[in-house]
Amino acid sequence: MKTRTQTEFERNIRQGLSDHPKHLHSKFIYNKEGDALFQQIMQLPEYYLTRAEFDILEQNKTEICQHFYAKDGFDLIELGAGDGQKTKLILQELVDKKMAFNYLPIDISQNVLYDLKKNIEKEIPEVPVQCQQGSYFDVLKDLANYNKRKKVIIVLGSNIGNLLHDEAIDFLQQIQQSMGEFDMLFMGFDQKKHPQKIVNAYNDGQGVTEAFNKNLLKRINNEFDANFNLDDFMHWESYDPETGTARSFLISKKDQQVSIEQLDMKVEFHKWETIHTEISQKYDDHVVNWLAERSDLKIDTHFTDSEERYKNYVFKTS
Ligand code: AVJ
Repeated sequence: MKTRTQTEFERNIRQGLSDHPKHLHSKFIYNKEGDALFQQIMQLPEYYLTRAEFDILEQNKTEICQHFYAKDGFDLIELGAGDGQKTKLILQELVDKKMAFNYLPIDISQNVLYDLKKNIEKEIPEVPVQCQQGSYFDVLKDLANYNKRKKVIIVLGSNIGNLLHDEAIDFLQQIQQSMGEFDMLFMGFDQKKHPQKIVNAYNDGQGVTEAFNKNLLKRINNEFDANFNLDDFMHWESYDPETGTARSFLISKKDQQVSIEQLDMKVEFHKWETIHTEISQKYDDHVVNWLAERSDLKIDTHFTDSEERYKNYVFKTS
């Protein structure tokens, strides 16, 4: 075996596939192919989240931007910027209202940032864009020392839903620590709703979500010389209406052994054995309030769609 430093993905595979029950982390779904599959997911009829948030931003952009406004201008900091489709609604409104601001998208992927900057420079050239590549936390630490103007931190897409509550609190606390008295956090949270709608959103008819989930196994095949047969696993989604947690699994359809050559691993699967791969937490006002309290934040106001499928909350430090 080659000697090389263990990557985070490698550590997760070693740990997750030897634990009982087995698990892998959803963040490793997102390579180039995973990013493209997520783009497709956002277009699916069943995946209501993106459209719901888009509609909320479109219908409330004027009022939302009034909350952002600061006399001396502000820095609009976006964590996990992605393709910027929804953010552009806000950026266009800020430009139309002649507000003074800089747009600072932060993303772990330099590729994503490059495309985003190019796209904004083409479509809304008035927006000053300064990209920062890195993990949220490293960049947030830098931002804490940079208190010249108001900071408006935005996190769209219910990305917080991939975190367990303790991790979500940790995330919110770190954001809170970078915020001053007049700064603001604007964040999207997918809401509890009819359980069938939630299950359908993660179990679409075209099998895109299945391919997205199985991209974890495909990556292990490609990057670690493994022999997962993707057809020998099925995608499964569950939703617990009591806790609001949607969970994704890959289930082995037969007794089988998989080898991962580069990690010198053989992994046994029993028929119907699971690999837990992702959580997509659903919220209500009560839970969001509780998360906020634990993070020394308070909800200033929120915006929602007519069916209350999704909410964008405005937080301040308390
Ligand atoms: C990007 C975390 C918001 O959990 O809804 C979509 C990812 N996973 N379909 C979500 C995802 C399966 C998505 N987030």
